[in-house]
Amino acid sequence: LDVAQHAFTGDLPTESRVGELVAEAHRRYTGLHDGQVADYIPILAEADPNWFGLTLAGVDGSTHAAGDTDIAFSIQSISKAFVFALVCERYGHQAVHERVGVNNTGLPFNSVMAVELNAGSPMNPMVNAGAIATTGLMPGATPAEQWENIRTGISRFAGRYLELDGVVYHSEMLTNQRNKAIARLLERYGRLDTDPLETVDIYTRQCALAVTSADLAVMGATLAGGGVNPVTRERVISSEVCRDTLAVLASCGLYERSGEWLFEIGLPAKSGVAGGIVAISPGKGALGTFSPRLDPAGNSVRGQRACAYLSRALGLNLF
Ligand code: DON
Repeated sequence: LDVAQHAFTGDLPTESRVGELVAEAHRRYTGLHDGQVADYIPILAEADPNWFGLTLAGVDGSTHAAGDTDIAFSIQSISKAFVFALVCERYGHQAVHERVGVNNTGLPFNSVMAVELNAGSPMNPMVNAGAIATTGLMPGATPAEQWENIRTGISRFAGRYLELDGVVYHSEMLTNQRNKAIARLLERYGRLDTDPLETVDIYTRQCALAVTSADLAVMGATLAGGGVNPVTRERVISSEVCRDTLAVLASCGLYERSGEWLFEIGLPAKSGVAGGIVAISPGKGALGTFSPRLDPAGNSVRGQRACAYLSRALGLNLF
């Protein structure tokens, strides 16, 4: 490993070296079979546990890929980061801080107890309670308009129009009673002004948007580049909102494992239960990874290992 050689230069290594290291990360962890594919959303259990894709996108628009980078999977909780950015862009730093919060719960992503222990505060936009509260703040006169604004907003980060995976959406709608309960609880605590069930419906749709690891890398590189999509060159959000989003990802993106993640990998990141991870190195670029086997906190095992390896080898770690 050419450990952290580039950590303080502000640049990625040469193009050919980056390509070799991305391929090496894929080779190293292909044989790792730890973890379980999520099954609390029934359709996710049908994922091939061997799928493994890695993409690195630079803020200059360059990309390097290895493995199953064109397999589409549902974005799931990774959508929370981008919806948070869109809502922050509309309402600003202070309002989102007050309405949703920015502290880690120390509890699993779908915890009802976290809401109760914190006097009804959803705590942060990366756990389900905070994400549902954030989705409720999305601009739009009707739920249909809010959904369309989320879909087009997230698509601008990806640089292409993202499709809803209807099978994943319907599968989750049959089993999302817990999220409905969380939304009702938030309503009772005065933390949700929209209709709770309609907001959970929109939230479930945003989680069912289909992406590839290549999409995640470009979405992350948009945050790494201060809000400008490196492929379309469109400004999607302001640099201030990027900073707010990356701060929340650093403290809460990997749920109750966020401290360990930051300690080992040193990058703001977000995971999803379909097996995706996006990890962002500000000013440099982002990694998009996909592998469906998860650890008990709901984070992709191979994705975490590949991010750890590449963070060191490419000098991405912030610290
Ligand atoms: O609300 C849920 O439970 C899912 N739609 C998303 C959860 C998720 O991705 C957790 N992440 N690792």
